[in-house]
Amino acid sequence: MNSINNIKTVVFPVAGLGSRFLPATKVVAKELLPILNKPLIDYAVNEAKNAGIERFIFVNSPHKPSVINYFKKNEKLEKELGDKNSEYFKLISSNLIEQENLIEVIQDKPLGLGHAIWCAKDYISGPFAVILPDDLVLSDVPCIGQMIEVYKKSKSNVVAIQEVDKNNIEKYGVIDYYKNENNIYHVKGMVEKPAKEKAPSNLAIIGRYILNPSIIEELSNHELGVGGEIQLTDAIKKLINTERVIGYKFDGNRYDCGNIMGALEAQLSVAIKDEKYKSQVKEIINNLCKD
Ligand code: G1P
Repeated sequence: MNSINNIKTVVFPVAGLGSRFLPATKVVAKELLPILNKPLIDYAVNEAKNAGIERFIFVNSPHKPSVINYFKKNEKLEKELGDKNSEYFKLISSNLIEQENLIEVIQDKPLGLGHAIWCAKDYISGPFAVILPDDLVLSDVPCIGQMIEVYKKSKSNVVAIQEVDKNNIEKYGVIDYYKNENNIYHVKGMVEKPAKEKAPSNLAIIGRYILNPSIIEELSNHELGVGGEIQLTDAIKKLINTERVIGYKFDGNRYDCGNIMGALEAQLSVAIKDEKYKSQVKEIINNLCKD
């Protein structure tokens, strides 16, 4: 179980339809679309594992069992591959999550991110992390690990933030703050998907959170927010009355894999950072740019 300073649990909301990626998502869950040879969700789980997280809660739709199966042993494939020392065998073994730490919770109605987190309530007993797999963050120190450090020092809820162009601000939750010290912003308000003119800052919330369990109570009245959905941002905003909330400008690059161009940029960025593919990718891009 979680002690106050020890964040060992992460929640991944993965129940979304992935409509931006239709028709692919007719048959493949958005979270399983690959960035090179690994599905998007693998990057999120790996980030959490590298930050010391041990318990993985997937809030899933009833129609996407493959997202969970990806982290389970595939005995049939293991048999087919045969040699346990082969490179392929290693590739299918390195991403496994032990059964007792792999929890699936079903969200059967698309009622929003806040509702998805609330669905995990029976498994939350202390502070926990939330990672939205659509937001891929490439960094030296895992983004969620950076945030756990901030949580340990401050005992405050922590949301990841980054500056975004004001013309895109209405896609995000946006913080209002009363002071900042370096990368730490003390939050006094937040609003989900504000119109450009109404945004309190250009600091957008990115899909990484460290939350106290009290968030579950805030979510339990199922208040509808923007888009007719139960918004996590609204619930965190209410927490500000009784608890501190910090906006943390993380070190690293974030790619919005929830849309096609963001996913393409992520592909190229991951490939160009990989020694194995670097020079080929540069060559491909150079050739394409000549046309
Ligand atoms: C969600 C959150 C929003 C946050 C965004 C980050 O929105 O509700 O506050 O800024 O993720 O990606 P969504 O992208 O699901 O509409």
